[in-house]
Amino acid sequence: MTTSLFEKIGGEAAVNAAVDLFYRKVLADPQINEFFDDTDMDAQRGKQKAFLTMAFGGPNDYTGKDLRSAHAPLVAKGLNDSHFGAVAGHLKSTLDELGVPVELAQEVMTIAASTHDDVLNL
Ligand code: HEM
Repeated sequence: MTTSLFEKIGGEAAVNAAVDLFYRKVLADPQINEFFDDTDMDAQRGKQKAFLTMAFGGPNDYTGKDLRSAHAPLVAKGLNDSHFGAVAGHLKSTLDELGVPVELAQEVMTIAASTHDDVLNL
């Protein structure tokens, strides 16, 4: 039996803590926070928790949009690689602050990087 990344990082409680801290960082960052001006952040946190749970091999309860269509309006407003890098940086520092072991954090960052072209509609 293989243990999923979701279980290794600590399951639902760990993903919830990570998503909450991650969006505090994102919303505090003037390079990117304007993209979230019209976003219902409670709904967004819920979708991101479900998305990451699925991406980490946990239960698949994600019913949101695919990442390409979800971010297309943002690309139209100028979303680019530097914004993606800023978001990835906040994810990395979130994992560091929560004490996620380096190897697991690296797996998470590999999954995040795999969404790059969809998020930027490339
Ligand atoms: C690691 C890469 C990323 C992942 C995995 C990701 C994931 C998601 C997910 C799951 C949603 C919900 C889709 C839905 O509404 O059904 C979403 C929406 C959104 N994302 Fe991302 N995202 C990423 C990168 C970014 C970046 C770089 C930005 C901007 C700096 C961004 C800004 C947004 C915004 C503003 C929404 C909500 C749009 C609305 O209000 O409906 N995302 N994202």
